[in-house]
Amino acid sequence: MSIYKVRYGTPEEFVPTRFAPKPKCSITEGLPQGAPNIDCAFSRRGTKITFPIDPKAGVYGFGLQLKGFQQRGKKKTLRANADPLSDSGDSHAPVPFFVTTSGYGMFVDTARYAEFYCGKVKRGSSAKPSAEQAQNTGTASEVALSTDALYAVRESTADTVMTIEIPFAQGVDLYYITGDTILDIVSSYNMLSGGGCMPPLWGLGGFYRCCGQFDENQVLEMAERFRSLDIPCDILGLEPGWQSQTYSCSYLWDSTRFPHPAETVKRLSEMGFHVNLWEHAFTHPTSPLYESLQPYSGDYEVWGGLVPDFTIPHTRKLFSDYQKTLCDIGISGFKLDECDGSDFTGGWTFPNCAQFPSGIDGEQYHSMFGTMYCQTQLSALGNVRTLSEVRNLGALAASYPFVLYSDLYAHKDFIMGVVNSGFSGILWSPEVRHADSAEDLIRRVQTVVFSAQALVNAWYLPDMPWIAHGCTDEIRRLFRIRMQLLPYLYTMFYDYHTTGKPPVRALVCDYQNEAEAFNCADEYLFGDSMLVAPMTAGEHERDVWLPKGTNESDSNHETAWYNFFTGEKYECGMQHIKTEDIPVFVKEGTLLPLAAPLSHIASDTQFEITLRAYGDCSASVCRLIEDDGVSVDAPMKVHTVGIDGVMEDNFRYRIAEVEHIL
Ligand code: GAL
Repeated sequence: MSIYKVRYGTPEEFVPTRFAPKPKCSITEGLPQGAPNIDCAFSRRGTKITFPIDPKAGVYGFGLQLKGFQQRGKKKTLRANADPLSDSGDSHAPVPFFVTTSGYGMFVDTARYAEFYCGKVKRGSSAKPSAEQAQNTGTASEVALSTDALYAVRESTADTVMTIEIPFAQGVDLYYITGDTILDIVSSYNMLSGGGCMPPLWGLGGFYRCCGQFDENQVLEMAERFRSLDIPCDILGLEPGWQSQTYSCSYLWDSTRFPHPAETVKRLSEMGFHVNLWEHAFTHPTSPLYESLQPYSGDYEVWGGLVPDFTIPHTRKLFSDYQKTLCDIGISGFKLDECDGSDFTGGWTFPNCAQFPSGIDGEQYHSMFGTMYCQTQLSALGNVRTLSEVRNLGALAASYPFVLYSDLYAHKDFIMGVVNSGFSGILWSPEVRHADSAEDLIRRVQTVVFSAQALVNAWYLPDMPWIAHGCTDEIRRLFRIRMQLLPYLYTMFYDYHTTGKPPVRALVCDYQNEAEAFNCADEYLFGDSMLVAPMTAGEHERDVWLPKGTNESDSNHETAWYNFFTGEKYECGMQHIKTEDIPVFVKEGTLLPLAAPLSHIASDTQFEITLRAYGDCSASVCRLIEDDGVSVDAPMKVHTVGIDGVMEDNFRYRIAEVEHIL
């Protein structure tokens, strides 16, 4: 796999690569032999890129797309948006990168709202109708009777092109990324982004955001309830109520609700909780940051606050120096809200024509706001790792330990977000809030525990949602499963960090040679060994496609899969599953490390591991990552253990037993 860079014209000054972390890969100048013939033209509309694309190729990516999986034939306009309700490209995290089943992907280095036409036919490319077709003899022509049928993307028999239009720009850098599989290509893109993020061990545990109106006593009571109910939880999030002013923000503790912030955070920490603070970047006049930020902010206010220009290093320093004072009392993460656009939600944000002191305009800043905000907060956190939240990301964001979320709530769309996020170097949490029924709540919690961040966002709920629905025991069971998986998850993220391999990804990433993978939009791989096929309320059965896989030593061997909950063995292919659990399958030959579930992770946590061996594991190894679990530059050791369960001495892991599932 390789990355090639090619420049056309004179690229704009404000582009994602200028602000991105250093790539962790080499880049070759110029296109390789065999690359498509790329045509680039400039006009007063901007830059237009056109090149042939196989009409049968799968096209995936473009960031957090909640409404569509296969992008072939579609038009995508990449605009940062808080309410992405249609399959238009609008997204909390639009990313100008796509990947194909033709052995390449492409990253377009732009912060503009670029338009991608993923398979258009240029005039003259279609084959002429035959004489028979012209006469229209025989069968009657088809007439659609629904708009869905009418406008469904059609298979093209003609030669198709990808056309990309970048407004205003008179030049652009393209990164052409080749690889044998989508997984290779996406991993390379993530290394171009500086490698995937490495969360702290505790960041992968349970995460609960308290009601926005809670005071410090109510937060402490909530913490005690988690421990007394024995529901695992590592992180408590405080919503707007911790601040004296929100919309816009003061970043000052509210002296009525939180008169003792340092003591509260300390008590929570003694109970094993990390604390995450909600905020957005719009800075209120009462904020201690307001005066100093004046010269470094845009020319429009949002909710009466300043919009800091985080593309200027000094702005980031001013902001993060102040935020550091919050970290100094023990805050270990942030939720960075409202840094996406408001085209469909009341228009609260700054206009696209806004001007910022660096020279960046509002449109470009909308594409950069989330990533620059993450950079700012990471400086405040210093050498301490986090797994935080953000509502906007864009290009080259893999290294930021911030998970995306949304105010939208359709469970199916949230699952689509999980499946799609892995194409674009972003992480997504299908967060759980209220539910219509116990069944709805359980189905949503099932999905979230098998995602990058196990988040319950109760910002408008006075109590844990499972109490009213009477399903506390089931929710406890699910969060305990999450804790059992922590060592496995940690290895998944280590791979993301060191090789760029996305921890959560669509099946087509690994199995593009199998036709079923092409449009498989409701299943995903959770690490290398687990396949997850979530279900939503009202569903009690579904088809699950289990890939054949390949086995290097025996290409005729077809992979078997095991039900994670029952141990039942399944042949590959389409299987019909009836279950109230979430369908999760483990690939044969996996040595899955399962930890005895803990209520939370501490710095001295030691895992008692049951090594579950699925099928013949005589040649398999399980990798376990040991480090201090919290520092950015912590040395990391990779321990390997085989079917005998014997492992070198270490601090973090002890193999208690090997369990065989045959
Ligand atoms: C929203 C955010 C919610 C919650 C709320 C608090 O914008 O998406 O999760 O934090 O603000 O006001």
